[in-house]
Amino acid sequence: MSDKSSYQKPRIAVLGLGHVGLPTALGFVELGWEVIGADDDASKVAMIQSGKAPFCEPGLDDLLARGLASGRLTLVHCVEEAVRGATILFVCVGTPQKDTGEADLSQVEAIVRTIACNLNGYKLIVEKSTVPAITAQWIKKTLARFAKLGNGPGKLHPEFDVASNPEFLQEGKALENIFRPDRVVVGVESERARALLERLYRPLNCPILLTDVRTAELTKHAANAFLSTKISFINMVADICEAVGADVTQVAAGVGLDPRIGREFLNAGIGFGGYCFPKDLRAFMYLAREHGVDCGLLAEVEKINLRRTEVFLKKVRHAVWVLRGKTMGVLGLAFKGGTDDIRESPALHIIKALLEEGVQLRVHDPQAMEASRQEIPPQAGRLEYCSSPYEAAREADALLILTEWQEYRDLDFRRLNELMEVPVIVDGRNLLNPEIVRASGFEYLCMGRYDVAERTATAVENAS
Ligand code: UGA
Repeated sequence: MSDKSSYQKPRIAVLGLGHVGLPTALGFVELGWEVIGADDDASKVAMIQSGKAPFCEPGLDDLLARGLASGRLTLVHCVEEAVRGATILFVCVGTPQKDTGEADLSQVEAIVRTIACNLNGYKLIVEKSTVPAITAQWIKKTLARFAKLGNGPGKLHPEFDVASNPEFLQEGKALENIFRPDRVVVGVESERARALLERLYRPLNCPILLTDVRTAELTKHAANAFLSTKISFINMVADICEAVGADVTQVAAGVGLDPRIGREFLNAGIGFGGYCFPKDLRAFMYLAREHGVDCGLLAEVEKINLRRTEVFLKKVRHAVWVLRGKTMGVLGLAFKGGTDDIRESPALHIIKALLEEGVQLRVHDPQAMEASRQEIPPQAGRLEYCSSPYEAAREADALLILTEWQEYRDLDFRRLNELMEVPVIVDGRNLLNPEIVRASGFEYLCMGRYDVAERTATAVENAS
């Protein structure tokens, strides 16, 4: 290591303070680094500065309070200032998708141009946002091209490295993932970049996988595609279980005990949603097709997932017969439990479909009501946002469980039964204990699970 700056404690800038950027910034502050967090949304920066995280993530408000009190966190809405003030720049801006499925990298490009125009010494630019393989190549090209426009000392000989350090954060578990990661993947092209990133992550005491940049980029895509595949696989198995009268939760337990398979991400239900899986799957397929690689496997994963709404609606029809004119309570709006995020939420797809069928809905979610109201505003006599699960169940012909919130497990089912017009629960997440629910007088339908009584009845029906 020839450069003195590598021995000093370099400053970190996190560019983009969303679901990835903010926990990342606060994580590094907690680990003792000086961090400049930047976002061009001034109101978001002001909110964070006031001590309030702009989204729900367990533990984040406490971590933010500690970060602000530490004096090691600076928040700015001027990205240029952050670039000039730091050596390691984590790019955490959004990478939404275009209609074609291709990743829209315009925010990444804009940030990289800003970096290029503000080079004032060596910078390590680290891709943290999920980007398609070969993005780093474009980042380098863009930096080289636009660095010429800068006014700083880096004007003639811009010094930089580009690295890939994909995030594997799960919403709702982001802090756990940051402080106790299963692994950190670091894709680098120079010794200097490797040393800087290893120094950041070594204290976490987890495996650090060192690769080239493209391999790191691809690892992220492969991880999300594989997890999506597991979910679609178990959803397909759930349909087969229903057809033959088996229980998918036990099948998942049985196969999941095999360490080569593992039990996680084998929960059958209404499919995967969120900002990552659906979008990343399409981006990965786009990349494969662009390079002439057959990605039929992933196309099937997506197809199975898209069909889950219809599979669930069929179950609801089976439970209540005619949909039009019925009143239904809906528990859960977020794309999964533990978050207020409704992006690509399967629950919202189902709600929209039910509204089109003329069902009156009374909905509840512990965290995602505000976001959902923006996406689907209340409609008198058609869609009402309720303050509790019990309110949602009032006079309903069925109660639908659409998000795996743990607190819905502990509801008072006898009380719910008394409030409802017809005691029917359709559980799209296999969240509830069938025995408890049925013992409280409910007709209970779930995903890929038949209880013995129902199986016997079906067998008798089939035999006669
Ligand atoms: C996912 C990955 O799990 C993270 O590792 C990754 O870093 C992140 O995407 C990302 O790319 O940023 P996240 O989107 O927070 O994290 O959500 P998950 O917990 O993975 O759940 C995704 C969806 O799959 C949810 O709708 C969830 O309900 C559904 N799911 C999950 C199932 O239907 N069944 C399961 O067994 C597990």
